[in-house]
Amino acid sequence: MIFTTVGRRLLNYVLRRRRLLILTLLFSSITSLIGLFIPLVARDAINVMVSKSSENLLNYGLMIVFLSVVGGLLAFAQRYYSGLLSESVVFDLRNDLYSSLQNLSFGFYSRSDTGQIIARATSDVESVKRFISFAITGFTNAIITVVLALVIMMSIDLKLTLISLLPLPLMSILVRITAKRVRRLFEYARNIYGDFTSIIRESIIGIKVIKAFCGEEHFSKKFLEDIENYRDSLIKVGKHRALLWPTIGLISFISLLLIYWFGGILAMEKEITVGDLIAFSIYIGMITWPMVMLGFITVSYERAKVSASRVFEIMDMKSDIVEDPNAVDLVVKEGKIEFKDIWFSYDNRKWILKGINLTVNPGEKIVLVGPTGSGKTTLVQLLPRFFDPQRGVITIDGVDIRKVKLDSLRKNIGIVHQDIYLFPDTIRNNIAYGKPDATLAEIIEAAKIARIHDFISSLPKGYDTIIGERGITLSGGQRQRLAIARTLITNPKIIILDDSLSNIDADTEQAIYDALSKYFKGKTVIIISHRPSTLRLADRIVVLFDWKIVEEGTFDELMKGST
Ligand SMILES: Nc1ncnc2c1ncn2[C@@H]1O[C@H](COP(=O)(O)OP(=O)(O)OP(=O)(O)O)[C@@H](O)[C@H]1O
Ligand SMILES: [Mg+2]
Repeated sequence: MIFTTVGRRLLNYVLRRRRLLILTLLFSSITSLIGLFIPLVARDAINVMVSKSSENLLNYGLMIVFLSVVGGLLAFAQRYYSGLLSESVVFDLRNDLYSSLQNLSFGFYSRSDTGQIIARATSDVESVKRFISFAITGFTNAIITVVLALVIMMSIDLKLTLISLLPLPLMSILVRITAKRVRRLFEYARNIYGDFTSIIRESIIGIKVIKAFCGEEHFSKKFLEDIENYRDSLIKVGKHRALLWPTIGLISFISLLLIYWFGGILAMEKEITVGDLIAFSIYIGMITWPMVMLGFITVSYERAKVSASRVFEIMDMKSDIVEDPNAVDLVVKEGKIEFKDIWFSYDNRKWILKGINLTVNPGEKIVLVGPTGSGKTTLVQLLPRFFDPQRGVITIDGVDIRKVKLDSLRKNIGIVHQDIYLFPDTIRNNIAYGKPDATLAEIIEAAKIARIHDFISSLPKGYDTIIGERGITLSGGQRQRLAIARTLITNPKIIILDDSLSNIDADTEQAIYDALSKYFKGKTVIIISHRPSTLRLADRIVVLFDWKIVEEGTFDELMKGST
């Protein structure tokens, strides 16, 4: 096997577990050696029989039994260690892949297909694992068995060895052809598998839409088509395999025929013993399977290489957001935010923000308004560096945010996202997500400000109620309030609420703002809202339109301006 870059990297993963690798190789070599020894004992036994010597045959029998038992035990150890090895290698691989996934930027996730990422993290990793556990022991067994068996056979009789090997090239060609076909079919089947699993995923996630628009039939038809193709390609795989084994059997019988024919003549001419002949035929049987194995291993290596390269591709992706090597911890004293001539585009084609200049003073509460799609969410997401602007500088207390540690930056900014994600966990853990060591009192305090405490207390399990798939379902407004509590508990110096009260009735909204006004003291706050009622709370209102700031001022100033 010639190692490509991918192969070498995979090998490096295996070499990291050197101890297990050595044990695996050791046990698989000894197992193969013992296997090779048995026909030699059988040969001697037969020669004793033929020569009618007085030697005790039982000893030979016992020897064979002994070797088989030891061989069996060692084979167990070999399997055990190769299993341990492949699991450990895949453990490292998974671990590295997961950290890379965690490091990748929002940009990566908004560009990629979730299904594809999940497939790489699961089925590609699995196929690498299958290859490692199968290939390492298979390969050593096969090489040792084939090479040594051939050496022994040649030492018995060179001509007979060459004759008996005649049909083998045919076999290796056959195996390669079948293996390639099977691989192509498998790849095809795997693509379909991806297709229909994403149909299942979409049907579950989008069930409301599907039912509302009576889209069931469309999905069912596509699904049916996919699983039919999947079934058919796997049946074809079965057919190829079913054909392969009898053909291999036939070819090895041809070898046997040649051995008995030519070997028989040699034995009659006393050039070899009868025992030699028998041992020879056993060896031919013994090398058939490893030969087939070697064919399969090379093909399965190709397959694992594809999977591994897909996994490495993600690992090699550089996050668009990089931390300055000399970054320092951000300490927010005042909380002054400045956006200086910010230009931003998601795709480097269309500007979403065009030269934004905005200063938010320490302790100020600004409300950002503007039509949908005007770039409000985009603008606030630049502050925690979920994306970096193409041009312009953002500073907090005069410090460029690209010069500070990401962790410290994000810890100082509390953001309630427009699309809220809650974990399928207890309410308590969801609120305490950003502060895992929070006391219950702190959690309740945050919930009270967000006006969700009464609702939580009314639940039979209170703060230990599980939400999400295996628990209760919350309304849109309840989710928003929980998300607010989750942000408040970390007590950040800068707070961003992105349309966070849109699903809450006007009275509750007012109550939340009343509670928040005390909490907001000394904090810099940016609120994005579509509601006129929110505007009155603002120290200043900023209007975004056509990806630019078009107006700025207090509520009264703007009202005057518009008349
Ligand atoms: N991840 C993304 N990748 C590419 N384009 C995006 C992405 N997110 C938003 N956009 C585009 O950027 C523009 C501004 O979107 P943004 O979400 O900032 O608007 P918004 O002002 O928050 O709107 P809304 O009031 O509806 O929340 C839109 O045209 C949107 O299609
Ligand atoms: Mg938005």
